[in-house]
Amino acid sequence: MFILLSLLLQSTATLTLDLDRPGIAVSPSLYGLMTEEINYSYDGGLYGELIRNRAFEDDTAQPVHWAAVGRDATIALDRDRRLKIDGNSDVRTASLRVRGGVANDGYWGIPIRPAADYWLTLWAMADAPGPISASLESPDGSEVFAESKLGGLSKAWSKLNVVLKTRRDERPTKNARLVLRTGDRTIWIGFTSLFPPTFHGRPNGNRPDLMRLLSDMKPRFLRFPGGNYLEGNTIAEHFPWRSTLGPIEARPGHRSPWGYRSTDGMGLLEFLEWCEDMHAKPLLAVFAGYALNGQVAKPGPDLQPYVQEALDEIEYVIGGPGTRWGSERARDGHPKPFPMECVEVGNEDGFDRSKSYEGRFSQFYDAIKAKYPLLQVISTTGGKDWLGQRSPINQRKPDLVDEHYYASTWDMMSMASKYDSYDRRGPRIFVGEWASQDVPEPWTNPSQKGPTPNMSCALADAAFMTGLERNSDIVRMSCYAPLLVNVNPGGRQWAVNLIGYDALTSFGSPSYYAQKLFATNLGDRTVPFTLANVPSQTQNGKSLPALFASATRDSRSGTIFLKLVNPSPEPQELSVASLGSKLVSHEPATVLQGNPHGMNSIAEPTAFAPRTKNIGALDRLRLDAYSITVVKLGTR
Ligand code: AHR
Repeated sequence: MFILLSLLLQSTATLTLDLDRPGIAVSPSLYGLMTEEINYSYDGGLYGELIRNRAFEDDTAQPVHWAAVGRDATIALDRDRRLKIDGNSDVRTASLRVRGGVANDGYWGIPIRPAADYWLTLWAMADAPGPISASLESPDGSEVFAESKLGGLSKAWSKLNVVLKTRRDERPTKNARLVLRTGDRTIWIGFTSLFPPTFHGRPNGNRPDLMRLLSDMKPRFLRFPGGNYLEGNTIAEHFPWRSTLGPIEARPGHRSPWGYRSTDGMGLLEFLEWCEDMHAKPLLAVFAGYALNGQVAKPGPDLQPYVQEALDEIEYVIGGPGTRWGSERARDGHPKPFPMECVEVGNEDGFDRSKSYEGRFSQFYDAIKAKYPLLQVISTTGGKDWLGQRSPINQRKPDLVDEHYYASTWDMMSMASKYDSYDRRGPRIFVGEWASQDVPEPWTNPSQKGPTPNMSCALADAAFMTGLERNSDIVRMSCYAPLLVNVNPGGRQWAVNLIGYDALTSFGSPSYYAQKLFATNLGDRTVPFTLANVPSQTQNGKSLPALFASATRDSRSGTIFLKLVNPSPEPQELSVASLGSKLVSHEPATVLQGNPHGMNSIAEPTAFAPRTKNIGALDRLRLDAYSITVVKLGTR
């Protein structure tokens, strides 16, 4: 970001809060999260499973991520002996035949933590009875972190379980693999699974460190399952929510548009439980009959099966246990309906060249509203979205319109004022994907820059969020994207992402901390204010303010949250005054600050993180260069 700070205005900038004028109500759902399977977000990410290619279907030619262990050991895919579940062998396409020993290397390693229980499940059969051994070992086998015997193998498929326990004094490492030794027998493995401790101890659950990072953001909703992942490359490959339910060994998995197979271990129920664990509301996006290759189910009878599929899916989420799909949910262990308020119809349908969305949206809208009149229905076109297309939904008025913005830091800062001039009659906006990115097309060369945003992106993000807050009467919801990235080489399909991790550890980017600062310091009403004597910044002959601000107040406590963003290379002085009551400053300010080119990483996870700081008296606040500052104020 090359910016020249104009020092034309020498006098101190002033911000005057008008405490006598009521501001607008701030949407309680302003900040949420958006997620999809991209960058190994779930498999190899949030979803706790440690075995890669657990059903031997990632590659039809060879058992990738599995290797023979031991002299004369052999392994091969076997399509004749496929796992039978309840007498049905169609769920899986191959088993792994093993003689001697076999190892799985996980998603860029299997993480070992001290005093941890690892739950190993194996669906297997053998040519002769007797136990096999299971261990977690270093890649060369010189270190064994945990081991146990697995008995019960027979000539028929059976499900075997064992817990592998690591020692209290074990040193954490991400360089381990699972090894199974069969002796001189041949065994067939139909399905494998290895789970470490999960968040809240949920079976088939999520990684605790990532769940803590996400929960700490206090998201109000989770938009899922996509994104492109919802749509699929073809209609046949759209998110198959029905087959993501039930026992994991019976979930077929599916091809995802981001270039790798999904296990669907993170299925519809797991998405919903993830919301529950974060105290966030589900925001379900339903497949709307349009796939990424341009295939469209035409409005009318062709579309009706997809409308019905969406109604069933919604019923699984919010239907009572007496309904068809609500009872399935109850059978899956969750009788209580989930507290969903919004449903989105499709994703980025502005790309549909056949221009069928208006008709498709209307058909979905009518069906959803007829059955669930209280649900808010979100359209993916109709706003002034980044495609520059305006496709008015003449026939039906969506409750919200989803707009997506992936923009340069400069453009994102310039969008801080975007909604100031919006038509107050609507449509109401859901900024369902957005991020400042210091790369031109984050999808074309995903390994350029990144994998997470640097501080300049965080500054631009924060500037944009001041605009969201000031205009929260129109902008009701927002969520950054993409959310998660496995930072290993080959792990990402998008260059810049909010939270990074490898098998063992994780970190939030500066943009993560900006999001968290904004979401956790939010009042329920804006406080109107005026800014004067603000310096400007220029780039390529264009100019923008060099200070961005938002003020909101919590009606119950009276606390005013003043957010100030200084993206410029110079510290700035700001005098904060008020009309009406007198202001008092409660506490030291919270400041996120640093070199705009710097970022966090696995090695330095919190090089950029908010710190508390005394920034001086209110009539002379000192805002650091490249800083995001939150000041809490009271009145007397
Ligand atoms: O966030 C990455 C992708 O960007 C999403 O899948 C899609 O909706 C958008 O184009």
